Amino acid sequence: MFEVLPQLSPDPILGLSAAFKQDTNPNKIDLGVGVYKDEQGNTPILSAVAKAQQVLLERETSKTYITPQGVQGFIDGMLSLILGDKSPVMLADRVAAVQAPGGCGSLRILAELLTRVNKDTKVWVSDPTWANHIPLIGNAGLAIETYPYFDKASASIRFDAMLDALKKVEKGDVVLLHGCCHNPTGADLTHEQWQAVMEVAKEREFLPFVDIAYQGFGDGIEEDAYGVRLLCENLPEVIIAASCSKNFGLYRERVGLAAIVTADTKTKSIAQAQIQNVARGIYSMPPSYGGALVDIILSDVALKQEWQSEVNEMRNRMRTLRSLLVDKLSEYGAQKDFSFVNQQKGMFSFLCISPEQVQKMRSEHSVYFVDSSRVNIAGISLSNVDDMAKAMVSVINS
Ligand SMILES: Cc1ncc(COP(=O)(O)O)c(C=O)c1O
Repeated sequence: MFEVLPQLSPDPILGLSAAFKQDTNPNKIDLGVGVYKDEQGNTPILSAVAKAQQVLLERETSKTYITPQGVQGFIDGMLSLILGDKSPVMLADRVAAVQAPGGCGSLRILAELLTRVNKDTKVWVSDPTWANHIPLIGNAGLAIETYPYFDKASASIRFDAMLDALKKVEKGDVVLLHGCCHNPTGADLTHEQWQAVMEVAKEREFLPFVDIAYQGFGDGIEEDAYGVRLLCENLPEVIIAASCSKNFGLYRERVGLAAIVTADTKTKSIAQAQIQNVARGIYSMPPSYGGALVDIILSDVALKQEWQSEVNEMRNRMRTLRSLLVDKLSEYGAQKDFSFVNQQKGMFSFLCISPEQVQKMRSEHSVYFVDSSRVNIAGISLSNVDDMAKAMVSVINS
């Protein structure tokens, strides 16, 4: 019966990985897939996570189901990480939340919840946004619109155009915002810009939907939560999808948090029951393992400190690589100013070169990244940055 379905073309990122694997050049460079890599090109288990695994091994006595909302310690720990220790919305008991299978699972169940509120809800996403936002939200049945976000020619945020678009968003519409380390551009809002977005949200009465998947990879664990905290402290309702894939390195364990900040405690209990009911109809209850590890880390002072310093180390490494790349590009005579790469945050940067130039990087220099020109900064290393910069200069100067 499945022959009636169309043959799908391969996912561009997976196609890129396959092409990279087949390339026999010993100096090939993979800047495609979005996972953190160390200097050796590995994605290691964080040492705080390895220790938490030992604790869990001794502590866990059963594999029976966990509760539908997930590990409560995980939920509490994540909420204080995202919203702050003394979050007014937490103190006011206005936040419903569940553990979910990754940031993706969180995005999806929140999108399903929105369809329950109003199936005609429009969700506005940045142009560009992370490609998977479209199916995760669109397949729940919601209409997707875009607001202007990034200008490739000037390598900067089109903030006036963004704000103009948001001023036309209707009451009850949803606006998806990247909490930090915008994927794919690496271009984040300033504090003043967050303030302006918050004021428009208040005026237009749209619902902000914050996707925070890289907390700690931009300016710091606390600093990266600036925007989401500002919205939560000033608006009646906000929804949040958080991921532990990158900052805890727990990719395959599938752990994230879906949170709903509501106007009052009564609505919170409605939202709590509804989001659990949404999850029940999709995967019943979340996997336990990753959440249990995060709970152990966040509730132990020493392990939390160790985790924080590992996040700081990852962030600093990516910052160093950014500035090294910018310096090398200028040293080798690039006819374009790439200093904007230093201002971009997190794991990704848009190099703002054309798809043809990206293809040349691949075919002539074995440097692999997606056509949009998004690179995974963590894929660069001290040993390949020279090759990468020389390849770029040869492609853009020709
Ligand atoms: C912007 C953004 N949101 C959410 C996610 C979800 O990640 P995961 O489902 O692996 O936790 C990602 C992962 O790449 C992402 O880049």
